[in-house]
Amino acid sequence: MSHIIAPSMLAADFGNLQRDVELVNESSADWFHIDIMDGVFVPNISYGMPVLAAIQKHAKKPLDVHLMIVDPDRYINAFRDLGSEILTVHYEACTHLHRTVQAIHAAGMKAGVALNPHTPVSVLNDIIQDLDLVLIMSVNPGFGGQKFIERTYQKLEDLSSLISANNTSCIVEVDGGVGPGNYNQLLDHGAHALVAGSAVFKAEDPKATIDLMKTRQ
Ligand code: DX5
Ligand code: ZN
Repeated sequence: MSHIIAPSMLAADFGNLQRDVELVNESSADWFHIDIMDGVFVPNISYGMPVLAAIQKHAKKPLDVHLMIVDPDRYINAFRDLGSEILTVHYEACTHLHRTVQAIHAAGMKAGVALNPHTPVSVLNDIIQDLDLVLIMSVNPGFGGQKFIERTYQKLEDLSSLISANNTSCIVEVDGGVGPGNYNQLLDHGAHALVAGSAVFKAEDPKATIDLMKTRQ
């Protein structure tokens, strides 16, 4: 299977949201990446349910929802009802992560777990077999347009080793500071899905940038 490109709608033009959703529909991108921030887990507030409903109304590709919120269990069914196909919660925000992952599966979605830059991959040792996706944060979550953290490459290798040591499979996604300058190297280090916000929406030609990132050099 070829790798996945997931443009982050955080970098879209909210005044022209339908236009930007259709841009992704018409592009070679695979998923819509949806960043939900609560101003508590991360020092920023992004957008919530009404905006996601507006995206979902026009989106023709899977919604990959990244929750940067405390106590995400409260909203699992709400995000399912809004069309999320993949629901990713943060390891650092879940006291009972296994229970949360079970609840996401029970709601009929794929379950992902995100790790902040300081969180080692080894914390997933006892849950990796239950996960459909691991999201490695390559910036501190909360804002688009930040600088990629180079340590991410080592974490990707650690994660690939953990996945094969457990004889399981799981999508490895990278989020933050990803673009034409580093996507190949990320794929070389084991990433399967690449989130890109600024690199896509701030580009002169977003669709050509997505095409470029879909092409292995
Ligand atoms: C950051 C979000 C990212 C963000 C990426 O907290 O999780 O998905 O939109 O933006 P760029 O690609 O601009 O770093
Ligand atoms: Zn994200």
